[in-house]
Amino acid sequence: MPHYPSMVNSKLPAVKTSIFSVMSRLANECNAINLSQGFPGFDCSPELISLVEKYMRKGLNQYAPMPGVYELREAIAEKTAALYGVSYDPENEITVTSGATQGLFTAISALVKDGDEVIIIEPAYDSYAPAVELAGGTPVYFQLNALDYSINWEAFRKLISLRTRLIIINTPHNPSGSVWNAADMQQLEKLVHKTDIVVLSDEVYEHIIFDEQAHQSVLRFPKLAERSIIISSFGKTFHTTGWKMGYCLGPENLMQEFRKVHQFLVFSSNTPIQYALAEYLKSSEHYEGLPAFYQAKRDFFVDVFRQTKFTLKPTAGTYFQLLDYSHISDETDTEFAVRLTREIGVASIPISVFYHKKTKSSHLRFCFAKNNEELEKAGELLMKL
Ligand SMILES: Cc1ncc(COP(=O)(O)O)c(C=O)c1O
Repeated sequence: MPHYPSMVNSKLPAVKTSIFSVMSRLANECNAINLSQGFPGFDCSPELISLVEKYMRKGLNQYAPMPGVYELREAIAEKTAALYGVSYDPENEITVTSGATQGLFTAISALVKDGDEVIIIEPAYDSYAPAVELAGGTPVYFQLNALDYSINWEAFRKLISLRTRLIIINTPHNPSGSVWNAADMQQLEKLVHKTDIVVLSDEVYEHIIFDEQAHQSVLRFPKLAERSIIISSFGKTFHTTGWKMGYCLGPENLMQEFRKVHQFLVFSSNTPIQYALAEYLKSSEHYEGLPAFYQAKRDFFVDVFRQTKFTLKPTAGTYFQLLDYSHISDETDTEFAVRLTREIGVASIPISVFYHKKTKSSHLRFCFAKNNEELEKAGELLMKL
């Protein structure tokens, strides 16, 4: 096997194998129930699979147009208008991406230059910071309240400078499951008003929100929408994370820049899946039923896990539930998560890994997008603690 004979000068020296891979590998080795990785443990709708097959057999197997199949962009525009009352032009303001991660990376690469500051709110999804660093930007980190993951807007305001180019937000929030309310969005709207700041709004869990709350998309706030790029993921909405399909909305002048990068990064996304999604998206019940579906799972999980020694507050959105183990152990969250996987047989993710620097936490993140039998089994195992 050949070996590169020189020193590799890494562009991302701090990046290591992600904890998600580490915990999943450990879960496999220990034959543990894997509630660490965020993907559904059940299949997507057979109707959606038949639609993909239909379009493959129709011969729609070559490159799609660069911004996405028009029918899909049109269906996204209709859904956006119906849900949030805003119209986005499929021609110039909507782009289909190969998953939300590609959308995030593309937006950051397109907008961030050397020396620009990007505010990242922690705990944060792990792809934001490396994308900012590769673009030459400087991540500026802000920590949510460690107990309930709420945001102190007074403190947040102090981070904004003349060099702030982008603020990345995420509601419903991975990993905490917290959601922002209208007052939070109004605070943000006020802070960025009359600046050049762009808001990158990661809304991949827009349809996974509970207890009759309405998702507070930036789209509901005109002064925010005019300076925002919105990222969504079909993987989360239709239980198809392995298809890596998502989309992005934004004002035309921002979308033009986004597409300049998009066309050289991927050029276009999977063609037959786009046609299938265009047809599937026309029936709104395919996404309108999602809050009730996942709320039933959350409630099942909460009922089972309340019988353990963990403490919890039912999650407000996403398919993640945090469990607090401070009554059970003094170990660090990573030590404790590893021990639970090895000795008890249930894998989770320690929250400290969602921070760029060492942070103390007594919360573990469990994914409840799994079959009830598996959730029940995991609960029974953890009752032994
Ligand atoms: C907050 C957040 N953003 C983006 C993504 C990535 O979505 P996709 O799989 O469509 O790239 C995830 C996936 O876990 C996520 O949790």
